[in-house]
Amino acid sequence: MKKSGSIAVFLCSNCGTDYPKWLGQCPNCKEWGTLSEYKVPKSKRGSKNRTPSESTSLKDVLKKGQTNRIPTCITEVDRVLGGGILPGSLILLGGNPGIGKSTLALQMLGKVEKPSLYISAEESEDQIAMRAKRLQISSSEMQLSGENHVDNILEQIISLKPEVVIIDSIQTVYSDSIDSLPGSVSQIRESGQQLLQICKERGVTIILIGHVTKEGIIAGPRMLEHMVDTVLYLEGDDRYDHRILRSVKNRFGATNEVGIFQMQAKGLIEVENPSELFLAERSVNVAGSAIFPSLEGTRPILVEVQALVSSANFGTPQRNVNGFDLRRLSMLLAVLEKRLKLPMGTRDTFVNLVGGLRIDDPAADLAVIGAIASSALDKPIPQDMILIGEVGLAGEVRSVSQLEKRLVESQTLGFKSAIVPKFGFKKANQTPQNMKYYQVDSVRKAFDIIFP
Ligand code: TYD
Ligand code: MG
Repeated sequence: MKKSGSIAVFLCSNCGTDYPKWLGQCPNCKEWGTLSEYKVPKSKRGSKNRTPSESTSLKDVLKKGQTNRIPTCITEVDRVLGGGILPGSLILLGGNPGIGKSTLALQMLGKVEKPSLYISAEESEDQIAMRAKRLQISSSEMQLSGENHVDNILEQIISLKPEVVIIDSIQTVYSDSIDSLPGSVSQIRESGQQLLQICKERGVTIILIGHVTKEGIIAGPRMLEHMVDTVLYLEGDDRYDHRILRSVKNRFGATNEVGIFQMQAKGLIEVENPSELFLAERSVNVAGSAIFPSLEGTRPILVEVQALVSSANFGTPQRNVNGFDLRRLSMLLAVLEKRLKLPMGTRDTFVNLVGGLRIDDPAADLAVIGAIASSALDKPIPQDMILIGEVGLAGEVRSVSQLEKRLVESQTLGFKSAIVPKFGFKKANQTPQNMKYYQVDSVRKAFDIIFP
């Protein structure tokens, strides 16, 4: 028998999939204990007097012309967004508590010469004003509000007609049509849906701030990722003062673009030359350090890979890694052991990417394996040398993407030689002239050059 009253589904807070009944594990994303009940509000179920929206021809839409982006005047943010804020887009800004999301959001509004609205249910208006004073923002176009009811927020947007709205944070917004606490999956989904609607209807840009949990996942807001146009994450380490703004999804721009900032007394300051920042405290002529020209989005950034290999005190050796994939590290250790006959099975290995950067690019393989071998052999890698290349299971060195860009940046920072993949180097057409290139097709050949 079908119940006539409420309809409930079970929503996964990790991936947003819904199910008719509760399950311990989400079959879609395989996370445990993420499903919770979501009562579908009455208004959402098919009503009889629904009016269909009219369709428009593509030609008419094109005739209206390109929508102009609103520059935030913060170069790093504009680049990550793909050239400024696009009117009518919904943006999710995620990050750990205390990382600087509110600061960044406020700074973004500070220079926008358009009517804007900052909605914060987390902090009082006085607190926001104090922060604005500290950041030296005195925009006359900015309105503050402490509202956290989604219907009232929508009303404020309609009456104040702002062009950019910041909601700090989505976890505090709630809707009456759902009877669960603010911050729950169903509340976030419902408010997100309503904000998305107004965003598209009125062409207003809404930036939703979402807190990430300690484990690095945005509980709840994560499922908003499907709904929004752009997902930005502000990352960083408590131990360092630099912050990385990363775009992981962007319907209107490039993904994987990064912006780098330093948190200072007057807010987030742009870092114009990140390589210099990451190499600033580099120790030279120490075994276990290799330099790798990483590519973050379209921008090359030089990073130092550090490795430490020591004999294991316990039966099972430790493998610890910061900023690099642990499984990839295990693979590289196996290559060292099998192809280069370097015994790694009884040794602890620690790998660290200096400065809290995280790299998924396989082009870093050669630098990682080089740093490990350097530490194991206790022979330093020449200080003006960079290492690039993907390492395959047979110990071969494979070509990487955008080699030229990486080499140009290395040359600019004064590096004199580079170990590069043979195949990729032949294809590259414009490499800096005054650098010495060693073209290799295997790790063994690379090691013959680095550790003669
Ligand atoms: P905040 O933007 O409140 O973080 P979030 O909104 O992500 O929780 O920033 C919190 C931290 O930033 C806090 O520890 C203080 C520091 N901070 C500065 O160092 N300089 C500044 O100018 C501001 C505004 C904050
Ligand atoms: Mg905040």
